[in-house]
Order: sequence, then C-alpha cells, then structure tokens
Amino acid sequence: MNFDRRIKIAPSILSADFADFGREIRAIEAEGADWVHVDVMDGHFVPNLTFGPPAVKAFRPHVRGFMDVHLMIAPVDAYIDAYAEAGADMITAHVEAGPHPHRTLQAIRGAGKKAGIALNPGTPVEAVEYLLDLCDTVLVMTVNPGFGGQKFIHSQIDKIARLRGMIGDRPIHIQVDGGIDAKTAPLVAKAGADVLVAGSAVFKGGSVDQPAIYGGNIRAIREAAQAV
Ligand code: DX5
Ligand code: ZN
Repeated sequence: MNFDRRIKIAPSILSADFADFGREIRAIEAEGADWVHVDVMDGHFVPNLTFGPPAVKAFRPHVRGFMDVHLMIAPVDAYIDAYAEAGADMITAHVEAGPHPHRTLQAIRGAGKKAGIALNPGTPVEAVEYLLDLCDTVLVMTVNPGFGGQKFIHSQIDKIARLRGMIGDRPIHIQVDGGIDAKTAPLVAKAGADVLVAGSAVFKGGSVDQPAIYGGNIRAIREAAQAV
C-alpha cells in the first residue's frame, strides 16, 4: 500500500444496523468509504461490548478494501493473533492498554499487519514519541471511547497539531475518531489529521435500502475536510 496523506473517510460500523453488517459494509464501500473501521470493545477498557474475532471473521468477506480494527480492549497482546487471523488489515491498540505498547506494536507487525496506536483524550502525545517507528497510524480519540454519537472534544485539536509536528515526513497516518462530522472535519484536517473515522455522521438518516444517503454524508465530511 503506497502512502499518501489524501483525506480518507473510515466509517465506523458501530453505528450500522447490527442485524445487517454484510449489507451495511458493502453499502458504505459502494458509497465511497476508504476504510471500514471496526470498533472492538471489551466492557473492561471501555464501558461497552462489541465484536470478538468470530464477528470480525464474518465481516471479512464483505470488506472489499481495508479493514481497520480498533481494539479498545485491555489486556490486548493475547488477542492480536486472533484478530489478525480474523482478517484485519490494520490492528490499532491503545497505548493505555498495558505496560508494554512497544512490544504490542512489534506483535502486530509480527502478525503481518499494519500497526496503529491509539491515544485517549487524557493521554499526552509524548506517550507515542518512542513508538513512532513501529506505527503505520496514530489514532487520536476525539471522544472518550465506548459509544458513538458523543460530542467532539476540542482540546484534541492541539494534540493533533503537535503529533503532526512529531511525525514529520514519516509515512504515518493521523487518524481521528469520535464526533467527526462536516463541522469538525475541517478542524482536525487543518491540524494534520488525514484519516477520519465517523459513525453517526455517516449512517445518520440512511439505511441499506437508502445507501445514497450514506454517500452524501461521506462526501459532505470529505469535502469539508478537503476545503481547508
Ligand atoms: C469509540 C468509537 C466511536 C465511533 C465513532 O467510542 O470509536 O468513537 O467510532 O462514533 P461517532 O462518529 O458517532 O462519534
Ligand atoms: Zn474507533
């Protein structure tokens, strides 16, 4: 995969119809999604429960493009191989998930997958300073993880800008996740984010029977981000 910083939209299927993931995934990709973002939650690291490896394995045949698996779980190392075998193209772990994020990233790369590290809103950007050479993506949470539809946390804009400075010309994506819509997209893009996760802002008002609404929502977010 050659690296570029053009804006990518990664809809989170956390906001999709939980009774129809296959069709929902095909619909968002047909309507312009660049990545498919899968939010894995364990009810321990975050106060919600979502997808185990069998569910991700079931999603895989419906994802034509890049399946981006965000592990909001702790401990995380024990599950990396299972999500890799389930078909994740990238596995993102939280820097807060345990004492050895450097080893976690080595394990993700060792499993042959792209590696991401995620930062919760309260975690300073310095936490990833010695991890950058093991990363393909740094994910800046712009909400406290656990649920879709939350309010964007504006203090994270400064963190994105500082991270952009730290990364320099390394081929590392800056991904943001939480409260991203056509209003907040330009704020994060201007600060240096290039991969925008959006759940409610993509799925709102649409359905698998009205996928064009997903397409309009994706375009609105992309165009707002590109306009800066
Ligand atoms: C963690 C999840 C959510 C989700 C995005 O809470 O990662 O942030 O992807 O949800 P929206 O786009 O609805 O804020
Ligand atoms: Zn996520």
